[in-house]
Amino acid sequence: MDRVLRIGLLGCGTVGGGVVTILDREADDITARTGAKLEITRIAVRDPAKVRGLPVDAAMYTDDPLSVVEADDIDMIVEVMGGIEPAGGYIRRALELGKPVVTANKELVAAQGPELYAAALAAGVDLAYEAAVAGAIPIIKPMKESLAGDRVTRIVGILNGTTNYILTRMSEEGADYDEVLADAQALGYAEADPTADVDGHDAAAKCAILASLAFDTAVHFDDVFREGIESVTATDIRTAARLGYVIKLVGIASEVDDRVAVRVHPAFLPREHPLASVRGSFNAIYVEAEYAGELMFYGRGAGALPTGSAIVGDVIDVARNLLQTARGASETQHRAKPIRPIDELQTQYYVLLDVEDETGVLAEVAQTFGAHGVSIAQVWQDGDADSAQLVLITHRALESNLRATVEALACSSSVRSVASVLRVESEVFTS
Ligand code: NAP
Ligand code: HSE
Repeated sequence: MDRVLRIGLLGCGTVGGGVVTILDREADDITARTGAKLEITRIAVRDPAKVRGLPVDAAMYTDDPLSVVEADDIDMIVEVMGGIEPAGGYIRRALELGKPVVTANKELVAAQGPELYAAALAAGVDLAYEAAVAGAIPIIKPMKESLAGDRVTRIVGILNGTTNYILTRMSEEGADYDEVLADAQALGYAEADPTADVDGHDAAAKCAILASLAFDTAVHFDDVFREGIESVTATDIRTAARLGYVIKLVGIASEVDDRVAVRVHPAFLPREHPLASVRGSFNAIYVEAEYAGELMFYGRGAGALPTGSAIVGDVIDVARNLLQTARGASETQHRAKPIRPIDELQTQYYVLLDVEDETGVLAEVAQTFGAHGVSIAQVWQDGDADSAQLVLITHRALESNLRATVEALACSSSVRSVASVLRVESEVFTS
């Protein structure tokens, strides 16, 4: 007879519902593949009385997560509550009790990864978090295991489904930002507080996790330079399209001169770029490695069932390890690498200026760029009189020089306001 492994689920919202559904629908095959029956027997939620329409006994719900973690009949914990605390405390307690944990909580892993990895190692059990980065896409295992013999040099990713969905619909349909964000929430893509998606927090957490694995070092969430999509306007999207670009929120991590550079921000990508065609809630991660060369991972980055798929995969891994009293591969953070400041970045920039429509304005603006060592690749005027704008694309320039240019432009009497500044990542696919 098959052994039964009992799962305690912490949280049963969008992702928890996906996990319950997949474990129920695929129960027979999962038992055959694992050699054990995997049963959810306790579920902690905020509101146990809420009707959830899931194939579980209503008596399983409790509002006391600690009772689930500490129950003697629970063999593993799946944490899909989100947030740093109290979720982190429950995970630490589970590990202390020798219970393996599967989590989708990128915020927690990006903030406390090293402590949690150490706790899991000390307890001799697994801490699995495939679903924390890019939903359904298998990327943690490839980074931790498949590429363990290689030297990763760079990662470029679209790591947030909500913002990719919003930017796709804004650029393809001219849709309104607030309306599309509401749709992303209704579809279960967004975080409980969607600010984390649009301000780049969610993508920054994922980028920190990937950079840590790629470069064998501890990259904390706070190490990631971050800008969100809130300031991207319909004009920016139209201008990008006119020039042959699309705007995407990208996460880029690389190792430069023994330092780790890691950043998340919206960027112009050339339309023919493989990441430019990643639409809707899809994510993609492009990895450059010394020996493997270029690799691309693509799939659904958010949503109940795609994320549930990644979690159930981890649950099966953990179950197999439990049956063999083993644990999976550990993270290594054996290289203490400093973080390279964003000021040292060199890339191209798009700058949109509201200007006075007068003779000499272009010359003054060009002089300001030149005085700060930033060379202009393209410039033209849109509109006239009160709606005159200058659109500029620079050659590659140092971020600190571009910032100094923008500060000087903001004080210039010819410039009414600096409407937009975005990075242009034309060379993301070259080393
Ligand atoms: P969600 O829909 O808001 O669900 C959160 C669940 O946790 C709810 O069932 C809630 O209970 C419960 N909960 C929250 N705080 C609790 C507390 N203090 N005590 C007991 N229960 C508590 O969130 P989600 O979208 O499923 O996301 C869950 C996690 O997965 C987050 O870490 C998120 O970043 C991650 N993730 C999400 C996605 C996605 O596509 N949504 C993808 C990858 C990773 P009630 O139902 O009673 O309110
Ligand atoms: N809110 C996240 C996103 C969920 O939109 O990508 C997946 O981590």
